[in-house]
Amino acid sequence: MKNVEIAPAKGKLGILLVGLGAVSTTTIAGVLAIRKGLAKPIGSLTQMGTIRLGKRTEGRSPKIKDTVPLADLDNIVFGGWDIFAENSYEAARTAGVLESSLLDKIKPELEAIKPMSAVFDQRYVKRLDGPNVKKGKNKMDLAQQLRADIRNFKKDNGLDRLVMVWCGSTEVFMKESAAHQSIEAFEKALEANDPAIPSSMVYTYAALMEEVPYANGAPNLSVDIPAMMALAQQQKMPVVGKDFKTGQTWMKTVIAPGIKARLLGIEGWYSTNILGNRDGEVLDDPESFKSKEVSKLGVLEHILQPHLYPDLYGHMHHVVRINYYPPRGDNKEGWDNIDIFGWMGYPMQIKIDFLCRDSILAAPIVLDLALFMDLAQRCNMSGIQEWLSFYWKSPMTAPGLYPEHDLFIQLMKLKNTLRHLKGEEMITHLGAEYYD
Ligand SMILES: NC(=O)c1ccc[n+]([C@@H]2O[C@H](COP(=O)([O-])OP(=O)(O)OC[C@H]3O[C@@H](n4cnc5c(N)ncnc54)[C@H](O)[C@@H]3O)[C@@H](O)[C@H]2O)c1
Repeated sequence: MKNVEIAPAKGKLGILLVGLGAVSTTTIAGVLAIRKGLAKPIGSLTQMGTIRLGKRTEGRSPKIKDTVPLADLDNIVFGGWDIFAENSYEAARTAGVLESSLLDKIKPELEAIKPMSAVFDQRYVKRLDGPNVKKGKNKMDLAQQLRADIRNFKKDNGLDRLVMVWCGSTEVFMKESAAHQSIEAFEKALEANDPAIPSSMVYTYAALMEEVPYANGAPNLSVDIPAMMALAQQQKMPVVGKDFKTGQTWMKTVIAPGIKARLLGIEGWYSTNILGNRDGEVLDDPESFKSKEVSKLGVLEHILQPHLYPDLYGHMHHVVRINYYPPRGDNKEGWDNIDIFGWMGYPMQIKIDFLCRDSILAAPIVLDLALFMDLAQRCNMSGIQEWLSFYWKSPMTAPGLYPEHDLFIQLMKLKNTLRHLKGEEMITHLGAEYYD
């Protein structure tokens, strides 16, 4: 098989993070600590994962980072925007995820990463307000200011390439409207300060116009509208989203395929969480929660395919709750009660109590996405990167295509894409050749 031409990962990669909150600062601090040998990149597929190449008998399982050319952690420069002016050291202290003893060892590097002023409007994130916000005559003007920020960041840091990852707060639930249908309509709406354009879309537009790949870590509508799809194609840029798959939903996409594989039925799945970080506070607003709820609810429907298995999943109750509970900070607790039934309909229950750390689970995902999106741009891959569905609660797909949610299929898809890029054989798991 012929391999795809991949431009080398030469020079420096800039990772622009929108929002320097818990997830972003945990990602940045982690990369800085790993560079200094203070920690290991646990949870990161790009840093620790291997990939089997060829037949099982060949014994070839190199690390992913030795198979495809990814940016080296030493060649990454972080930057970003936030509505609060605290530098990354202060923001990491506020987030309260990592111990001060670790943060103090990388204090000067963290302090040097100061947020650029943000594009923000409280209309879209009701529970937040902050001082470090740009002023402009309209949303197009704000987009131009972001574009200047991107160019200056690239120039000032001597960067070769950039990627942008939205790690900002979850915005209110919005539906696609006329302003989102074409690049032209979108640009007119920017000029007219149309309320149909939330802050996140202003960043997305600026990124794509500056030829920066864009990944959307939150569930809100930002890049998944026809105008942005057209812009990504026009600019030949990869885009991907949405909503990092970290705690409860990750667990759901592990457990649900297992139940379905055994043709066991599900009567109900009740999920509830308590969390006390700023994300929890933002999600305490019903309009932001609605974005999250829609993203979390879609998963089971797609994995279980009730239309194909009406007797097993046709009458399932699926409920998701998030409760803001400050004492827990970033250390979320998620409970799942799953009412299942087996042979002749006999009922059983599965209970999961997951004491997780939201940002500890999210940080390696941010790093992997940044590195893989940079790889995608060097492979000239543009538009939706479905092979990165592995990382998302609501993977974006082409119109009319249902998303693949099963974590193990997603991983196979990701690794087969890497094999394809390298001209290696796809692994089908047929395995008949071993018995010829
Ligand atoms: N941690 C997880 O497991 C996880 C999983 C899935 C999705 N997410 C999403 O990732 C995002 C970040 O989560 P977090 O825990 O870091 O939240 P956080 O509240 O700690 O950080 C978000 C930051 O974004 C900033 N912000 C908000 N709007 C902005 C704007 N328009 N421009 C610039 N900055 C802006 C806020 O001031 C805040 O500092 C949230 O949307 C969250 O829902 C997190």
